[in-house]
Amino acid sequence: MWSSRLAFILAASGSAVGLGNIWKFPYITGENGGGAFVLVYLLCIALIGMPIMIAEVMIGRRGGRSPINSLRMLTQRDGLSSRWTWIGWLGITASFLILSFYSVIGGWALSYVGQSAGGIFTGSNADSIGALFGGLLSDPWTLLIWHSVFMVLVITIVAGGIRSGMEKAINILMPILFILLLVMVGYALSSGDFAQGFAFLFQPDFSKLTTEGVLTALGHAFFTLSLGMGVMMAYGSYLPKNVSIVKTAVAVSVVDTAVALLAGLAIFPLVFANGLEPGSGPGLIFQTLPLAFGQMTGGVLFGTLFFALLVVAAVTSAISLLEPVVEWLEEQKGIGRLSGTLIGGISIWVLGLFTILSFNEWADVHPLNFIPVFENKTIFDLLDYVTANLMMPLGGLFIAIFVGWFMNKQAIENQLDIHNGFGFKIFMFILRFITPAAVATVFIYNLI
Ligand code: PHE
Repeated sequence: MWSSRLAFILAASGSAVGLGNIWKFPYITGENGGGAFVLVYLLCIALIGMPIMIAEVMIGRRGGRSPINSLRMLTQRDGLSSRWTWIGWLGITASFLILSFYSVIGGWALSYVGQSAGGIFTGSNADSIGALFGGLLSDPWTLLIWHSVFMVLVITIVAGGIRSGMEKAINILMPILFILLLVMVGYALSSGDFAQGFAFLFQPDFSKLTTEGVLTALGHAFFTLSLGMGVMMAYGSYLPKNVSIVKTAVAVSVVDTAVALLAGLAIFPLVFANGLEPGSGPGLIFQTLPLAFGQMTGGVLFGTLFFALLVVAAVTSAISLLEPVVEWLEEQKGIGRLSGTLIGGISIWVLGLFTILSFNEWADVHPLNFIPVFENKTIFDLLDYVTANLMMPLGGLFIAIFVGWFMNKQAIENQLDIHNGFGFKIFMFILRFITPAAVATVFIYNLI
C-alpha cells in the first residue's frame, strides 16, 4: 500500500511524466500547427483522460490485483463476461510495443547527458546543433549502444526490486526537473522570442488543424497520462481505501499537463528566435534546448542536469511499461521474476532495433504504404501511431464502456465516495456517452 495520497501521486506521476511530456508533446504540437492542437489536447485531457484515469484507478483498487486479474475478479463478482480481461491483454501488447521505441528515444537523452557534460553545446549555433543531432540519428551503432544502456538500466531496476529506493529518489528528482524547466522557461523569456512562442502555443488557428491532428491529440492524451492499458489500474491496486480517487487523478493530470506546457514554453521561443522549423519532428527538443544551454551562464551544468533528469523521468515511465509484461510472463507462463524480466526486456530490446534503423538505413522503408492511414510511415512512425493513436484510445473506450455501462453502480459509488451527487452523474455521463462518442468519431473520421 502507498503510505499516503502523496506517495501515490508521486508514483503515478513517475509513470505519467516522461518523454511524452518533454519530447513528444512539443514536437507533435509543432507538427500540428500549435494553438488549436494544444486546445484539443487540453480538452481531451480534461474530458476524456481524467475520467478514464479515475475509472482505471477505481478498477484497480476494487480488484486489488494485477490488471488482468482485477478485471477477471470484477467480472466474476458482477456476473459479467470474462472477455473484459482482453483490455489487459491489449495493454500488455501496447506496453511491449511502446517500450521498444521509448527506449531508443531514452537513449538519445542519455547520449545528450554526455554531450552536455563535455561542453559540446558551448558556443554552438542552430546549424552545428542540427548537425550533431543528424549525426546521432544517422549512426545506428551509437543509437544501439544508448538504446542498450537504457534497457539495461530499466531491466536492472525491474529485476532487482530496488523500486523503493527509486521511488525515494523520484521524490527529490522530479521536483528538481520541474524547477529546471522553470529555469528554461525563464531563459526563453529573457532570450527567446517569447511572445511568438506563447502565441504559437495558445492562439488557436483552426485552419491548421487536420483530422489526423485531432486523433494525434486524443492519442497523446492517453499516452502522456499512461492510460488505456492498465498501468493506472496496477497503481490503483495499491491505493488505500480512504484516499479520494477523484482528487488524486486530478492532481496527477494537472502535474502532467503542467510539465508538458512548461516544456512547450521553454522550447518554442527558442525555435522562433533561432529561425528553426516548429514542425521539424522528433528531434525538436534535441535541436533547440542545446542552443540555450550553449549560451546561458552555467549552461554545462544546467544542460547535463536537464538531460540526466529527462533520463530519470523516462526510466520511471519505462519501468511502468516493462512491469506489466514481466507480470504477465510470471502469472501466465510461470516464469520467475529474473527470467521474466530478462526475456521480456531482451525481446523489447530486439524490437527496438527496428526503430533504430527507421532513422537511418530504413528511413525510406514504409512497410504499410498500401494502407492509406499508414502511408509514408516508417517502422518507428507505425509503432507510435498504432500504440498511441489506436491501441490506447481503444483500451480507453473499453474501460469507459465497462465502467459506464457494466460495472456494479453501487461499487462505483462506494469507490468514488460521491453518492448520487452531481459530480457522479457527470462522471457517468462522460464515461457512457462522451468518451465512446469522441473516440468513435475520431476513429471513423480518420479511417475514411
Ligand atoms: N506517460 C509516459 C510519458 O508520457 C509514457 C507511458 C505510456 C508510460 C504508457 C506508461 C504507459 O512519457
